[in-house]
Amino acid sequence: MGVCFLEKENLFHLCGGDVSYILKIYRDAFPMHLYWGKRLSDPAISWYLEAPYRRKKLLEGTEPDDPMFLHEYWPFEYPGYGLSDYRPAAFEVVGQDGCCACELRYRGYEIIDGSVALPGLPSVWAREDQAQTLKLLLSDELLGLQVELYYTVFEHSGAITRHTVFRNQGGGKLKLKKALSMSLDMKHAPARMIQLSGTALREHWIEQRELGIGETYLESTRGISSHQQNPFFALVEHQTTETGGDAYGVSLVYSGNFLAGVSCDMYRSARVQIGIHPTNFGWQLDAGEQFCTPQAVLCYSPKGLNGMSEKFHDLFCNQLYRGRWKDRPRPIVLNTWEAFYFGLDHQRVLELAGRAAKAGIEMLVLDDGWFGHRNDDTSSLGDWFENKETLPRGLKGLAGEINALGLQFGLWVEPEMVSPDSELYRSHPDWCIHINGRKRSQWRHQLCLDLSRTEVQDYLIDSLSRVLSGANIAYVKWDCNRRISEPGSDGLPPERQDELLHRYVLGLYRVLETLTSRFPEVLFENCASGGARMDAGMMYYFPQTWVSDNSDAVCRLRIQYGTSLCYPPVMTTAHISASPNHQVLRQTPLDFRAAVAYPFNLGYELNLCAMSDGELQQIAEQTALYKQIRPLVQQGKFYRLLSPFAGNQTAWMTVSQDGSEFAVWYYKDFCQPEEAYINVRLTGLEQTARYQDEDGSCYTGEMLMNLGLPLRWKNGDYFSQMWHFKRLQEEALPGR
Ligand code: DGJ
Repeated sequence: MGVCFLEKENLFHLCGGDVSYILKIYRDAFPMHLYWGKRLSDPAISWYLEAPYRRKKLLEGTEPDDPMFLHEYWPFEYPGYGLSDYRPAAFEVVGQDGCCACELRYRGYEIIDGSVALPGLPSVWAREDQAQTLKLLLSDELLGLQVELYYTVFEHSGAITRHTVFRNQGGGKLKLKKALSMSLDMKHAPARMIQLSGTALREHWIEQRELGIGETYLESTRGISSHQQNPFFALVEHQTTETGGDAYGVSLVYSGNFLAGVSCDMYRSARVQIGIHPTNFGWQLDAGEQFCTPQAVLCYSPKGLNGMSEKFHDLFCNQLYRGRWKDRPRPIVLNTWEAFYFGLDHQRVLELAGRAAKAGIEMLVLDDGWFGHRNDDTSSLGDWFENKETLPRGLKGLAGEINALGLQFGLWVEPEMVSPDSELYRSHPDWCIHINGRKRSQWRHQLCLDLSRTEVQDYLIDSLSRVLSGANIAYVKWDCNRRISEPGSDGLPPERQDELLHRYVLGLYRVLETLTSRFPEVLFENCASGGARMDAGMMYYFPQTWVSDNSDAVCRLRIQYGTSLCYPPVMTTAHISASPNHQVLRQTPLDFRAAVAYPFNLGYELNLCAMSDGELQQIAEQTALYKQIRPLVQQGKFYRLLSPFAGNQTAWMTVSQDGSEFAVWYYKDFCQPEEAYINVRLTGLEQTARYQDEDGSCYTGEMLMNLGLPLRWKNGDYFSQMWHFKRLQEEALPGR
């Protein structure tokens, strides 16, 4: 397990769990990709490299120095632009002569225990006993460029992380124009690509595309990872299901512009890539300087999409986020946004908190509208001090009174933005991203602050530190409601303007690193108009994300189902909101809304003061139930069973880490007459173990996974059912 070097074959075998990743140093010159998939007991497969590539043209030049050597026919690990390879390059670098070509040659390797840190960037990490890292050293002597390729293989899951470091070792300037995190050439392209796409209120819908010859890419050029495409994709075969077959998942630990996908060549070989989007990206490397790409995460499973998701969930919960909330139960919050929108005032919020306390809710979150002179969305972003008209006793007074009711207090902020109508903008009009001489486009009446500038980062760190130390604030919802346009910075010289968008992300990470370390007890929640920046980069700092502003339970089935392909349910907050729902005006029963939220990180977002005593009682029962199942749903293994994208039924389940209990949820959103009877086939159980639900029904794991769990049929829309099973001790077996 770990990284093995087979000297005779000049080949590296990265092996962990049920996965092998094999690359070979071809003729001591080029790292070439041989295999990524189900674990091989014999990794000595060098001969595969040439066998399938023995095409006529290829045989004409097999030596790297032979002018007849054609790069186009070979499976590279990190191909550069400008040679005889016409597939998309992983990187492009312009030399001092202004020419753009690079041929990296292998110079050596190092094997390191554990993971390596990426300077200024978030990353999945591992202790020395959890993973090994292979560092390949490459260079192009003509350019004076050194490149390091890093591969960390995780012992338990076989997950692999990759990133690349460029170093200018020559005397002059180099310019990077493209620098993806990883690239690999699979000999046979998988059949389909699965992606998470959508828009605001429709995040993370599962889209599938056949991989035909040509390019199948996802991207964001909005400055953040975006609602439209998520920096994650999976490659699967036609026969892959949720529980079986090959599933190759790729995710990027980054929160800015990205490019991800597959290019299939004329032989249906697939070049798989992910990294920073090359549009308007550049990085000047002066002599001695280095550039580090973000990290890519590769999770393969032979056990279908659930197997792949399980690996991502485990990695993101345990080896990405590092803070104190990693294993802590996440509180049940009540957020004021859908309750009051901008109609906040001290008394109103306090009354709401009083009701929340009676209903068993644990935290009151004060959303937008508490600062500057903000009574709508036209002003005050940047002015992070209380509006004394709204909060005459300040945040401190309100937080104190809410704490006295037995609730914790949380606060909304949107630090990366500035309203033109704000004190901050009036004093520093050059602090926003803009191009001099062009109009400053507004989105929700706001502009983006230029986080590439250290003084702007420092302003945010200072002003938010003041807010967080000025009152007893246990939670922060960090919002981001616009995308970047007119990308220009007064802080950068003309030749470095193309560094702005990446420098923005680095600046954001510096602010987040500082604040989350300075306030380690605070629970930080990530939000960007819902899920526009739900990515592994943000999860390094934020243990949970508000996945969508669409809180309708029917829509949430799809949003949460799609999200779970890559992101863990405990990191996905799911709030129960009012009926009719504010986004789609649908009326659904309160128990259905709760059932959709339970398997995730539960909260509320409605005006409890407008609810009947009966409804409040129902909410009190919901919070009591959630507290009982919280360890299971927040720490268990989540599996998808029936897809809402396939019809009117959805099912999923959570199994505790020790396998001693599990819960299953089934939903039928719209009833159809005389529907077929189905049993839901479960997964992730022990074949021979016996399990019993609350009604006393008893099944073996084998029965539940093969025959399935029989559904209790009931007519009507918005039907939901939950089962909670416990594994029986052998001696307690009821007779059957
Ligand atoms: C967008 C967020 O997604 C909402 O939940 C809410 O916080 C609003 N912003 C407030 O302006």
